[in-house]
Amino acid sequence: MTRMIAVAGKGGVGKTTCAALLARALVAGGVRPVLAVDADPNSNLHLLLGFPMPTPLGSLREELLEEREKSAPRETLLEAMVQRRVAEGKDVDLVTMGRGEGPGCYCYVNNLLRRSLLRLSGNYSAVVVDNEAGMEHLSRRNLRRIDHLVLVADPSPRGLSAAQSIRELAGQLSLPVGRTWLLLNRPYSAQGGIGCPPPSSPPLLAEIPHDPSLPGLELSGRSFLDLPAGSPAATAAEAAARILISVGPS
Ligand SMILES: Nc1ncnc2c1ncn2[C@@H]1O[C@H](COP(=O)(O)OP(=O)(O)O)[C@@H](O)[C@H]1O
Ligand SMILES: [Mg+2]
Repeated sequence: MTRMIAVAGKGGVGKTTCAALLARALVAGGVRPVLAVDADPNSNLHLLLGFPMPTPLGSLREELLEEREKSAPRETLLEAMVQRRVAEGKDVDLVTMGRGEGPGCYCYVNNLLRRSLLRLSGNYSAVVVDNEAGMEHLSRRNLRRIDHLVLVADPSPRGLSAAQSIRELAGQLSLPVGRTWLLLNRPYSAQGGIGCPPPSSPPLLAEIPHDPSLPGLELSGRSFLDLPAGSPAATAAEAAARILISVGPS
């Protein structure tokens, strides 16, 4: 069964960083292959995973609308169109969703895209979705189920309250979430912040320390998947992945 992991949180708290670290950690924990899904319209997960910018899945909308004029696209054709948009790596593949659609009725193609994303997900042991700061992708229910909703927060009151709001929104929307976790990330310094999250926070998955090797890796264009074992962020993410693996889908 594919483990569906969605990473969400306020802008700039380290969602993309944590999504890339979790993908690496899952592989290190023996969970492979992993599909990384970039659901942020300002796609940048590919930069941390060492892929060139892939053609977004969303660009299929126009193509599918045109196809529809002629005849309904055959499932096999659709599958091939989706597969062409998957960037393939050794243990981690990547698909980007791209921008939302313009005005017009896209329900038909959005449903097709949703179905094809679900089918694609079935080929992987785990799927890690890097969401945009809002809840757009999550609230559209593009995922049939989310086994683990990982709320990334920096250890500031604002970071934590944003995580709390997303949790509440997920509840209000009755999103099919198995478990919700707090992943504390300290993007800027090893110091400061609050001591421990308030009792109302979701259970703490792990605390990712500030890792000075990350910005250098990003600058040099090297993949976070090649981060050496033992680096502070890699070690913490591996602990997080172990929990996600052992708790399993609920
Ligand atoms: N644990 C960390 N250690 C060092 N730098 C980090 C860490 N987490 C995030 N950063 C840096 O903080 C910035 C924002 O992170 P990013 O993952 O892009 O945030 P988001 O996806 O939430 O907008 C990036 O420059 C990233 O390299
Ligand atoms: Mg991001």
